[in-house]
Amino acid sequence: MQRTLVKDALNATAPNDAILLQGWVRTRRDAKGFSFIELNDGSCLKGLQIIVDAALPDYAQVTKANTGASIEVRGKLVASQGQGQKWEVVAEKFIVLGEADATYPLQKKGHTMEFLREIAHLRPRSNLFGAVFRVRSRLAYAVHQFFQEKGFYYVHTPIVTASDAEGAGDMFRVTTLDLANPPKTEQGDIDNAKDFFGRKTFLTVSGQLEAEIFACALSNVYTFGPTFRAENSHTSRHASEFWMIEPEVAFCDLNGNMDLAEEFVKHLIRDIRAHCAGDLEFFAKFVDKELLTHLDFVLDKPFVRCSYTEAVEILNRSGKTWEHPVAWGDNLQSEHERYLTEEHFKCPVTVYNYPRAIKAFYMRQTDGCAAGRETVAAMDLLVPGIGEIIGGSQREERLDQLRAGMALHHLEEKNYWWYLDLRRYGTVPHAGFGLGFERMLMFVTGVANIRDVIPFARTPGTAEF
Ligand code: 4AD
Ligand code: MG
Repeated sequence: MQRTLVKDALNATAPNDAILLQGWVRTRRDAKGFSFIELNDGSCLKGLQIIVDAALPDYAQVTKANTGASIEVRGKLVASQGQGQKWEVVAEKFIVLGEADATYPLQKKGHTMEFLREIAHLRPRSNLFGAVFRVRSRLAYAVHQFFQEKGFYYVHTPIVTASDAEGAGDMFRVTTLDLANPPKTEQGDIDNAKDFFGRKTFLTVSGQLEAEIFACALSNVYTFGPTFRAENSHTSRHASEFWMIEPEVAFCDLNGNMDLAEEFVKHLIRDIRAHCAGDLEFFAKFVDKELLTHLDFVLDKPFVRCSYTEAVEILNRSGKTWEHPVAWGDNLQSEHERYLTEEHFKCPVTVYNYPRAIKAFYMRQTDGCAAGRETVAAMDLLVPGIGEIIGGSQREERLDQLRAGMALHHLEEKNYWWYLDLRRYGTVPHAGFGLGFERMLMFVTGVANIRDVIPFARTPGTAEF
């Protein structure tokens, strides 16, 4: 007999005389002559009620079916007599596959998120994390669907790389050298030429530079993969390992890029609204009461677009006392980003044209900007509750300007020779952005900490599991 998933049993349109279910016991209640078991198999939020008659030959097994135990049930799917569910299963055969004793950590509800992080190997069996990871799976599917249906090609950019894509230097080193006894050059320095790849290598901070290579060949491409940052940020929005989606579009400028970002974010929200209704209702009930209203609100209106210069003026006119006062040329801090999107505009905001000095070397210098106020065609999409979820730009396609940008950021041209070649041979205007996949998940679920939307969080000081 083929196994039926709880999700399909709950959506059945007719009773079924012979059904097989497998899953884990959420709760068991013993009454006179019967036991009631709630079986969950992770296929959806809800469990299925199993009724085991004490007269059944297998009934002796039931006393071993404690919370957390895995079970196999054969029986009949019948219309439920009880409240709150359409179907239930009357067991005919009942087997405990794997027992779980009273030490099973997920006995009762009401554990703290911190405690659940410590049991990341069991937390997917809880309602909250089951819902988060089902939504995560669907969101990944929606990402591919969006780009594939638009004719974008999916490019697999390397994870191990020799180049610093952001020019910011916060990279994890990849090496097979013996740290206790590394090979040395004649000058006494570590001899990186003896390392595995014959040079210094790192985990990638972004697939963008390689995506640009492919955009300058296949026109419209995207990457979707793991990304690593060795920044020592202890916030609820930073992880050392996270997933990023990076579209790159040839023959596209900053406006086209902002349009694409907005359409993409709206597509993802609309898809999750349509396909994860049960899980979203759970988040709206237990995580963020306003979640559905917020999501629908984002879909309804165009996002606001505001230049960096205007943003700084708004912040300085706000009458707020900032922890980090802001003047033209300063980076916007989280408090500023959140003020703009949550209090001032009360909707998602794309801030564009940032000061050149605070943005990456590859961003396109804005034509005709005021002297002393040089800007680049950068864009950050800010959303309420989180701040930045997307960072992107139009790329500098002009060789001389790109070289100047690299000099400004103290980057050596020889490390980027192939990137410069793209500007030497058939260069085109192009643009792209990166969406932090976990930040998007935080936004659609209302879950407040990035550690709780990634299966196994990697943050400074933590790499268990
Ligand atoms: O703004 P970032 O650093 O931009 C880039 O890496 C560009 N190469 C993207 C591009 O133009 N192709 O990162 C992009 C997004 C951020 O907006 C944020 O959502 C997410 O990636 N992000 C992080 N998410 C979690 N933890 C971190 N430490 C993150 N750093 C960036
Ligand atoms: Mg950024």
